[in-house]
This record gives sequence, C-alpha cells and structure tokens, in this order.
Amino acid sequence: MSQGLGEISPGTVFGLWLAAPLLLALAAGAATGASPSPLARDAHSFARPDDVRVKHLALDLTVDFAARTLAGNAQLTLENSTGARSLVLDTRDLDIRSVHLDGSPQPARFTLGQEVKFLGRSLTIEILPTTKVVRVDYSSRPEASAVQWLTPAQTAGGKQPFLFTQSEAILARTWVPCQDTPSVRMTYEAVIHVPAELMAVMSAENPTERTADGIYHFSMPQPIPSYLLALAVGDLEFRSMGPRSGVYAEPSMLAKSAYELADTETMITAAEALYGPYRWGRYDLLVLPPSFPFGGMENPRLTFATPTILAGDRSLVSLVAHELAHSWSGNLVTNATWNDVWLNEGFTNYFENRIMEAVSGRDFSEMLATLQYQSLTATVKEMGPTNPDTKLHLDLAGRDPDEGTGDIAYEKGFFFLRALEQAAGRDRIDAFLRGYFDHFAFHSMDTAHFVAYLQTTLLGPNPDIAKQIDPAAWIETPGLPASLKAPESKALAGVSAVIARWTHGTLAKSLDTKGWSTQHWLYFLNNLPAMLAPGQMSDLDGAFHFTTSGNSEILFAWLKLSLQNQYTAADPALDHFLTTVGRRKFIVPLYKELAKTPSGLERARALYARARPGYHPVAVTTLDTVLGKPGLSAPPPG
Ligand code: BES
Ligand code: ZN
Repeated sequence: MSQGLGEISPGTVFGLWLAAPLLLALAAGAATGASPSPLARDAHSFARPDDVRVKHLALDLTVDFAARTLAGNAQLTLENSTGARSLVLDTRDLDIRSVHLDGSPQPARFTLGQEVKFLGRSLTIEILPTTKVVRVDYSSRPEASAVQWLTPAQTAGGKQPFLFTQSEAILARTWVPCQDTPSVRMTYEAVIHVPAELMAVMSAENPTERTADGIYHFSMPQPIPSYLLALAVGDLEFRSMGPRSGVYAEPSMLAKSAYELADTETMITAAEALYGPYRWGRYDLLVLPPSFPFGGMENPRLTFATPTILAGDRSLVSLVAHELAHSWSGNLVTNATWNDVWLNEGFTNYFENRIMEAVSGRDFSEMLATLQYQSLTATVKEMGPTNPDTKLHLDLAGRDPDEGTGDIAYEKGFFFLRALEQAAGRDRIDAFLRGYFDHFAFHSMDTAHFVAYLQTTLLGPNPDIAKQIDPAAWIETPGLPASLKAPESKALAGVSAVIARWTHGTLAKSLDTKGWSTQHWLYFLNNLPAMLAPGQMSDLDGAFHFTTSGNSEILFAWLKLSLQNQYTAADPALDHFLTTVGRRKFIVPLYKELAKTPSGLERARALYARARPGYHPVAVTTLDTVLGKPGLSAPPPG
C-alpha cells in the first residue's frame, strides 16, 4: 500500500515511464489548484479504511420471507497496516447480535454510534493489531432500504415471493455491515439459504439451476466496492444467449427477455474492441419484476434490469450497453466518493454511446445523443445555470448521495467526453480511455486525480488538444460551456419537419412516419408544442395509439404530455402505469406533473397511497419527499 494515494498504488498501477511526471502533477495539484493527494475523503461513510481495511467478505445469510429478514453473519478479513485497535463499519437498520474475533467463542466489544440521517450508525469494534477476521452476527430488518420483499402477487408468476437488493449508492449497509464506501474494494463469497422452491443469484459466479436444498454458494474473486453487492431470490430460470452471456427471469418472462436481449454478446465484443478485455468472466442479466426502481444496475457479472425495456422490438437495449459499459467505468475504475459519481456515469454514458454506434450505426447513436442533449439542456434550464449542483464535481456532504445521480453526472459527463473526443480525435481519445481503464483497473479515482491524469497523459503532451478544451469549465463550473453544440441527427431533423407539418394543419394520420423507430417517436413526443388542444391530443392518439403503447418510454412521454394538456382519455392508462411500474425515472416526473394542480395533487396522493406498498424503498424515499407520506400531512410547498 502506497502512502498518500489511498487505493492508488503508483508503483504497480502507472507504468514506470508515467510515474514520475504523474506524481509531479499530482503533487502540484495540476489543473485544479487543489491539492489532489491523497484521494478525497468519503463523507458518506463512517469507515476509516486508511487505518484498517476490509479485503474479503464471507457472508452466510438465511432469507426469511415470513419475517422479511436476512439473518446470519458476515466475516470480514482485515488488512491492518497501521496496527489499528478499532474497526469502524457502516450499518443502517441492522440488528447486531454479537461480534467475534478470529473464531474465538469469546464475544468482542463493540459500540453502535448515534443514528445520522442517510448514513445510519457506525459500528465500532475493538480489535487487536493482529486480528485477521471479524465475524458479525446480525440480521437485517424488514424496513432495510436496499431490500424489496415482494409478495407472490407482485411477481409475474403470482405463486412465489421474490426479493432483490439495490445497494448503490449507500444502501449495502442496510443488509451487510461493511466499509460502505466506493474507495474500498473486497473480494467476497457467500452462502445463501432460501426456500427450496426458489433460486438465489448474486453479483458473483452464479448457479444456472435450482439446488435441491435451497443452499447456494457464491464467489466473487475480483475485488469490488460494497455498492456492487447484490442478491436476488425468486422463481428464476436461466437461458443462455451466447458463450458468456445469458438471462435470468421468472419463467413466464424468460422467452421475451432472451429475445429482447439477444444482442448482448455482440455488445460485449464491441465493448472489448473499444476499451480492452472484459475482466469479469460472464456477463448475465436478471430481468426483475416491474417494481425495480432503476432501469438497470451494473451488479458485476449480473446486471439487474427493469422489465420495462422489454418493448418487443429490441429498441431499448442501449440500457444493456450502459450497464455493460460499467464493467469498465465504475466497476473496474470506481468513483472514490459520491461527489465523483460523474466519473462512473458520465464515462459510462460515453462508452454506452460508442457501443451503440458500433452495433447499430452512427445515425442511431446520434439520435440517442440528440435525445440526451435535449434532456441535459432542459435539466440545466430547470436547475438554473449557476446552480452548484450543475457542476460535474459535486459536494454532496450532508445530503443523500442519490441527489447526485441526475442528468448532470450522466449527460454533462457524456458531453464533456464528447468534447474531449472532438478536440483529440477518435484515435487519441480511445487510446487515452483504454490506458485509463488499464492503469486504474480495480482502483478508485476521484475528480482531482482524474484531472491530473488527463493533464499528464493527454493535455500536457498535446497542446493542440489542450487549447481546445478547458476541463475546469466542465468539471468545476456550473451550467454548460458556450462551446457545447447539439449533435446533428438528420433522422431527427426529419421528425422536426413532420412536427411542423402537423402544427400547420396536416392530420396526424396523413403524416409520413413510415419506418420510425422508438427514438424517432420519442423525439416527436418531446418536441411537440408545449400546449396542445384536446382535439390535437385525440388526433395524435387516434392515429398513433400512444395511450395503449407497449413501449414504456413512449407511453411515459405520452402520459406526461397528457397530464400537461389535461388529456383525460389517458387517465386509466396513467393509473395502471403508476400502480404497476416502480421505475423512478418514470414515476417521479409523472407524480410531479400531477402535483402541479390542486386536483392533480389530490389524485397523486390517492394513487400513491395505493401504489406505495408495491414500490421499492428507494422509490418510496424519493416520493415521500415529493408527496408526503400517505396518512401524514404533506411536506411544506417549495
Ligand atoms: N448505476 C446506475 C443506477 C444507480 C445510480 C443506482 C446511482 C443508484 C444510484 C445505473 O447504471 C444507471 O445509470 N441506470 C440508468 C439506466 C441508464 C441507461 C442511464 C437508470 O436506471 O435509469
Ligand atoms: Zn449507470
């Protein structure tokens, strides 16, 4: 372990030719004015990994669907290079029964700290400088925020219960006592006991068949940060899709899932051609019930995905490209703190776009980029161009790190890398990114160290690039640089022309929309005039049947438009959507749109009261702040 650079060990990570100038740059605080060594401190963890570090986790947990608990123990293997006498772990809503050191039957002393909002409670364990393994006997509570316990009625099959976890950003601590910071990596193994009718899968080497006794053994030999710990249990089946890819889903969802995701293997190959070997062995996907609060989650070896990408025509699979890309940006090179989450999500969005270009062509990937550009500019307008949260480099101390995961990290990060690509050219940006992933593989990275690395490897040696781009203008400055230009998509310019014809009186059914993809339709819906008359809404719906669309993205865009224009014919579809889908990106904007009028707010509250028991705690936390907890008075306006 090197001093001062946290997880980054220059001797092994940087090539020797690079080490000297890079360290100089780091020491000088190159390009940021800050002093970038050591890695930034994580304000969202109680752990003190510089004192003593968890290197390996062994879990033994029993899944109890009746009690809604995970009960058992976590054995943490330590690297104590400072002779520390206490180990501080993160916990939230965990019942700690006892702690034992190195297998001793004698219980060890521990204390739980005061509850801190968002962070939970520190668990401080007295250890010896020689302690190797700490075993914590504990159970999670039914309200653990990472875990959703689904009744059979909330699954596709309707017969068996289901459980899945979501650990990012800081929810691993609600089901595993750990150093819950992305600056610490550990390998892990697990034994999970489930009812014999169910299968368990994790972010690890997975079974493809049910066991007779309901006991499953897992191992993750590559070191990962805690936010990538994941578990799902349910009536699952596996289907292979390619030599290293396959899909898990409930039996009734399996065929549809395998059809939709058939391009996965092609994407892996395309990703490797761009930025180097896929280092995790297999890449499988798990299609979850519709309450999954995200589109996808890049759990290593096993991406968790929403069933709302199953459009039937493979048109929403850029989500797979995104989660796959995280196998490099995020899972391999990881944000050191949640203030640096743009290093995960912005890089991943760029990489996603490059994979989509490789597998579906430039016209397609530029349509995606155009939709993203529109989303970004709208977000910055809404947040305000001087809002500090529109910087890439955030300050989330004292807040839920979830607040850092909006469009800024994703789309501003994406357009920063595109700007870098424009300045450097394809060959040099690709060599840079490939080198970056190689050098820092299995290590953490913060914004200042990234800027220093960029300076040393790309901008310093190439003044022609440096004079075209100012990283600080993107990273440390709110708003969007004046140099940012919209992508040029001919296909979508054609859609604009169609919109113009319609607004000038051509009936919807006479418009030429032949061959339009999902992305054409999304652009169409997103770029209609803001105010539409009832007759215009029904003209569109009559011609294009948006209200009954089976494509979740199109339906979402239409439902939002319907609310904005009081198109009540879509009301039943909205009710159905909000009570069956729990994907936060869809439901939060719809509830917010509803809440804009007094009668809409009443309807939102009534709907939420019905839908809330079916949502994951992550979505519930967000919506409770938007609408108030049902049964309690509403939060104050504003
Ligand atoms: N890692 C994120 C999901 C996430 C971020 C969970 C922060 C918790 C905190 C995942 O890779 C992601 O970005 N998902 C997107 C889909 C993607 C195609 C933009 C989502 O869920 O919408
Ligand atoms: Zn992501």
